[in-house]
Amino acid sequence: MPASHVCHNADLKSAWPARPFHVLPAQGRYKASMSTSLTVDAIWRPMTLEDVPLVVAIADAVHPDLPEDAAVFAERIRLFPAGCHILVPQKSREQRQASDNKSQATTAGLGYIISHPIPKNCPPSLNTLLGTLPLLPTANDNNAEQQQQQQQYYVHDLALVAAARGRGFAAKGIAGVLHGPDAPALQYPMTSLVSVYGTAPFWRRLGFEEQDLRAQSRDTDHVPALVAKLRDYGKDAVYMVRQNS
Ligand SMILES: CC(C)(COP(=O)(O)OP(=O)(O)OC[C@H]1O[C@@H](n2cnc3c(N)ncnc32)[C@H](O)[C@@H]1OP(=O)(O)O)[C@@H](O)C(=O)NCCC(=O)NCCS
Repeated sequence: MPASHVCHNADLKSAWPARPFHVLPAQGRYKASMSTSLTVDAIWRPMTLEDVPLVVAIADAVHPDLPEDAAVFAERIRLFPAGCHILVPQKSREQRQASDNKSQATTAGLGYIISHPIPKNCPPSLNTLLGTLPLLPTANDNNAEQQQQQQQYYVHDLALVAAARGRGFAAKGIAGVLHGPDAPALQYPMTSLVSVYGTAPFWRRLGFEEQDLRAQSRDTDHVPALVAKLRDYGKDAVYMVRQNS
């Protein structure tokens, strides 16, 4: 088996504080905003470590049965900031002026994208720290093309609170990661993800195709590990892949 096909499930513990972080400014108010429809506009911006409590709150609300620790989100931001974005309410001009010279911290999160490169067909297990990410080969590497073929981009999660859905925010955010200017996925031959909650039709529209793992199992070594990981994501989990060019 080529080294790049060995899937490591690093079980590292980081110094990041354990949950719970409480959503800001008050959990009750935040929860209420999830059940009503959004009346303000929203923008995607790069995620920072300061956003982790907001991301955890969104994840807890959207994925109650697929919990992940704050440390997992924080690690992805540290390892691959270009793939981590948060959807936040867009401030009005008055609000921006009022907050000039004050804290720029966001107090509400509406959605997030976590994405990063992985070794080919080796998505991480749920709620697992990675330790490191595969590095892109440099132009000086003799087998640069071969190395690049052994990596792929991975959308770990895209989640919007209910109030922010159906307005094109998800499509816009994921486009920025997959094929917009400077999209990180374009450095890799393909992008993969684990679709849950019957979202395969949403991903198909973006060029992802379901992979029939049973058909591949006879001649590929990574498949048993992949099938086992998919089980953690629930019965409806589907592994999907998109060619990036
Ligand atoms: C999946 C999710 C991110 C989509 O968000 P959204 O805000 O509804 O998506 P958008 O408004 O950007 O929709 C873009 C297009 O996809 C369509 N779409 C959205 N969800 C869809 C679904 N589940 N199946 C098929 N099409 C879907 C929309 O109708 C829209 O089509 P249009 O361009 O013709 O109007 C959101 O529903 C969500 O966060 N769900 C819970 C978490 C989740 O399932 N994440 C994915 C895990 S793999």
